Amino acid sequence: MNRKLLIVEDEPGIVDAYRIILGSTSAPARIVSSRSQAVAVQNAPVAAAFELEVATTGEEALVKIQQAVAAGQPYAGGFFDVKLGSGIDGIETIRRAKDTDPEMLYCLVTAYQDRSLDEIEKVFGPDFSDRWDFLAKPFTQNEILQKARNLCSSWDRRQKEKLYLDQIHTQQDQLVKSERLAAIGTLARGIGHEFGNILHRLIGISEIAALKNDPTEMRQALSTVATAAERAGAIVRNLQSLVKMEVKREKISLYTPLKECLTLIDHELKRAGIEVKENWDPELPLVLANKVEIGQVFLNLLINAQHAMETTGGTIEIRSRTQGKEIVVEVADTGCGIAPEHLKRLFEPLFTTKGERGTGIGLSVCRKIIANHSGRIEVESTLGKGSCFRLVLPTT
Ligand SMILES: Nc1ncnc2c1ncn2[C@@H]1O[C@H](COP(=O)(O)OP(=O)(O)O)[C@@H](O)[C@H]1O
Ligand SMILES: [Mg+2]
Repeated sequence: MNRKLLIVEDEPGIVDAYRIILGSTSAPARIVSSRSQAVAVQNAPVAAAFELEVATTGEEALVKIQQAVAAGQPYAGGFFDVKLGSGIDGIETIRRAKDTDPEMLYCLVTAYQDRSLDEIEKVFGPDFSDRWDFLAKPFTQNEILQKARNLCSSWDRRQKEKLYLDQIHTQQDQLVKSERLAAIGTLARGIGHEFGNILHRLIGISEIAALKNDPTEMRQALSTVATAAERAGAIVRNLQSLVKMEVKREKISLYTPLKECLTLIDHELKRAGIEVKENWDPELPLVLANKVEIGQVFLNLLINAQHAMETTGGTIEIRSRTQGKEIVVEVADTGCGIAPEHLKRLFEPLFTTKGERGTGIGLSVCRKIIANHSGRIEVESTLGKGSCFRLVLPTT
């Protein structure tokens, strides 16, 4: 447990009181008097030892906080007298300290003629409200002890929560990666098949070309060979880019990852009797995005659309437009649609209606990726008619 506390107080009598109440494990009961009568000591309970450091001005406190952070031994919290004899006051000290040490907790020590709590709240802002507390003068020994314990135990609890959240984020990132690999696995069968086709064409046309004596016909055959080989190259490139794990944001056109995914999947779509219609706004602004992750979102949506039209065939329409300060991309299919009772569960991890074949992870990962890009994902669907998944992202 972190028991380091900073006392920011300019009156020696009150500093002594802090030391006696918080500084030793066996403090004898003692009455502390001070000029301002700030401390009215009651029967002293056995005090728990805290590691105390004292600063008599706000400026000195800021230096101490910075040094503690730099040494990797930050304070759990501090008691800050609002009215300090010289220099900046306690409130201004905290306002400056909260960026130096983003974890430290603060207890303001106020006399009721000092600034009101509303006013203090305004100085600190709403985001900070769970990091400060106050103690009104005159206070009792028990009150100080209580606050000191609260500062230390809250600091510990917050550290544990942070660690826990970090772990959850790491796990979610791993989920995103493993889902991407699963999607690539789904593609592999189709891609293997298409590679077979391409090779077949390459060999066939080369053999024919070898038999021709006419240079024009040979040139034509060679250009067909080149086109087929280019397509094979594009598939390999896009597959490699999808396997990349690093998270890099850059200004991209959303059309780039979409096109890469379509290259990987369009053969499968054609085989399933699915036509892809593109209605892309060529003026669409660029967005700051991770191309691989956005590609993963498109891939998930396209694979889902393919599953929804597997037995029937149909159409996937991809539309994009600008809407105020947002970019809207829609992937709409004419597939089986989604039952109303399933609609609200769609993005839940592990929700699937595909039994053994489904993982139920695709859409939850899509939502996480889009949320990481400060966007949202919406869905509209009519059972038996089709579904439309809408990505809404801010422009940069
Ligand atoms: N385009 C779509 N048409 C119909 N249902 C869909 C579509 N996309 C997703 N769904 C439904 O949402 C569920 C969850 O999708 P997802 O998270 O990608 O997991 P999975 O595809 O593994 O089932 C699917 O099982 C399906 O019921
Ligand atoms: Mg899916």
